[in-house]
Amino acid sequence: MSMEATAWTQLHNVMNAQADRRPFDRATLRRIAAFARPHRRRVALFLVLSVATALLAVATPVLAGRVVNAIVTGEDGGTVTRLSLLIAVIAVAEAALGLVGRWLSANLGEGLILDLRTAVFDHVQRMPIAFFTRTRTGALVSRLNNDVIGAQRAFSNTLSGVVSNVVTLLLTLGVMLSISWQITVLALVLLPVFVLPARRMGTRMARLQREAAAHNAAMGTRMTERFSAPGATLIKLFGRPADESAEFAARAGRVRDIGVRTAMAQSAFITALTLVSALALALVYGLGGFYALRGQLDAGAVVSLALLLTRLYAPLTALAGARVEVMSALVSFERVFEVLDLKPLIEEKPDARTVPEGPVSVEFDDVRFGYPSADKVSLASLEDVAALDTRGGGEVLRGVSFRAEPGRTVALVGSSGAGKSTIAQLLPRLYDTDEGSVRIGGIDVRDLSADTLRDTLGMVTQDGHLFHESVRANLLLARPEATEEDLWDALRRSRLDGLVASLPDGLDTVVGERGYRLSGGERQRLTIARLLLARQRVVILDEATAHLDNTSEAAVQEALTEALAGRTAVVIAHRLSTVRAADLILVVEDGQIVERGTHEELLAAGGRYEELYRTQFESPGTQAAELA
Ligand SMILES: Nc1ncnc2c1ncn2[C@@H]1O[C@H](COP(=O)(O)OP(=O)(O)O)[C@@H](O)[C@H]1O
Ligand SMILES: [Mg+2]
Repeated sequence: MSMEATAWTQLHNVMNAQADRRPFDRATLRRIAAFARPHRRRVALFLVLSVATALLAVATPVLAGRVVNAIVTGEDGGTVTRLSLLIAVIAVAEAALGLVGRWLSANLGEGLILDLRTAVFDHVQRMPIAFFTRTRTGALVSRLNNDVIGAQRAFSNTLSGVVSNVVTLLLTLGVMLSISWQITVLALVLLPVFVLPARRMGTRMARLQREAAAHNAAMGTRMTERFSAPGATLIKLFGRPADESAEFAARAGRVRDIGVRTAMAQSAFITALTLVSALALALVYGLGGFYALRGQLDAGAVVSLALLLTRLYAPLTALAGARVEVMSALVSFERVFEVLDLKPLIEEKPDARTVPEGPVSVEFDDVRFGYPSADKVSLASLEDVAALDTRGGGEVLRGVSFRAEPGRTVALVGSSGAGKSTIAQLLPRLYDTDEGSVRIGGIDVRDLSADTLRDTLGMVTQDGHLFHESVRANLLLARPEATEEDLWDALRRSRLDGLVASLPDGLDTVVGERGYRLSGGERQRLTIARLLLARQRVVILDEATAHLDNTSEAAVQEALTEALAGRTAVVIAHRLSTVRAADLILVVEDGQIVERGTHEELLAAGGRYEELYRTQFESPGTQAAELA
């Protein structure tokens, strides 16, 4: 590596290092070692190569000195030829070793990225829903991308940088000292003059770089939010584009200023380095020449010293920044480990059970629940806040008990915010209860495996999500082995076959980000098709038909009724007409069940249900407004 390139890397690392210089953390080091262990053969081979490369690097200057001596002493041409051939062979060997070393370190580095990435991905996938509702997706993705790459780069830089530089430095210094210790010492004296200010400047630059990174991240988040279809729509409808532009420009301007200052600092650094090494070279020629004239050194030794000197500064400057490099490696690793250390609140028990065959009951037994506080489920650094909120939400469910008999339908009605969706979310274990228990087929959901829950429970919500993939892929998510026939059957039953058949690519048409190119009702019918396809034994419909107009609702309702036949169902609906046929209707208010019974019983009782029913059917204009 050329001296300038090394200096460049070093400055870069100084600047990207974190300011907090914590002491080495042994636990972190041990974990890094654990990640490197599967690659230990390659690491060892890499170290051997580094030593070999360093040996070759000192050999050339020494041989060059011999050539000069052969010329000065007027030896025969044979010696010169032999020496120069040897130099050529060494050059070829150096090139070959360089390539092999690069291949090794690239393999090591990329292998490490792969290991870290898959570990983080697997782990994040196991996190509870509460984690995803809190974290900023951008911050999480950056943890998977930037920090993993940072950790890898720092790891291989430290390995190749520190190890091979130490070896090169020691060998070069040893040979120089053996030629002339006086000249060597004098040449080294110049070094601190340049290294010390460079380090101080590095720290200042690091602050600027972090500021730039923060601005860049903020711009990135803003762009992802504003440029998504729903975000762009919101800005068009309500936003102030001029203000948005001004704020964006201010941040971008600050990034430009920092960029200019960084560029100037870099060139000042390189200039200083070039100057110092040129001055040291002058010193070697001057002092060496003086000694040579007095006969204390031969001409070849002076040439060797000068050549060795040019190879000395690169490892020295690199090592000056090595500490910083190691620190930044640790920081990147720590940021990755921080995510890996998050405990998933909801974990499958080692001896998890499966739901028994056949129709099953669904039961809530005095369930109390409040949404978990931020500090239990998330990381401050992923939420873009300094400290996590430790306050838990208030109690959302305050003693809910009911039982849906196998194959029967229970309907939940009540005002918005009453806790209906929360009840629905406890069934597939998106959250765990605080007190009481939720049972499927008589077994507490906390004792069931994640697989069996997925196979048993199906859920359709008001804002059912579609991935930015084809209709087919979105449907197959529910049942990967479904045939073409199954797909069309599900589409037919959700009254979507006509639409899909008319799409340009049929089943292979990609539905836009969040299914945006479909209307709300169409998107909802697609999520219903997904449910019909999955054929689970327990079905939860959380306002599943809220986006449908009256005509298509009637049609889909028919399909749903057919799909619910023989299954246990929990249905939340704002249109009371759709819950009339339920075997049991529960009126939920403020986290409690305030009334229960069949439609007729509840109407006769003349309570809250009757009140809700009258508002819906007596004044069609406000239909469902109160219940949503
Ligand atoms: N992810 C969440 N974190 C904290 N509080 C929530 C969350 N989701 C809902 N809530 C709160 O829980 C209460 C019940 O909400 P929800 O079950 O969605 O009501 P419903 O479906 O009956 O309209 C509301 O007060 C709501 O603000
Ligand atoms: Mg709801």
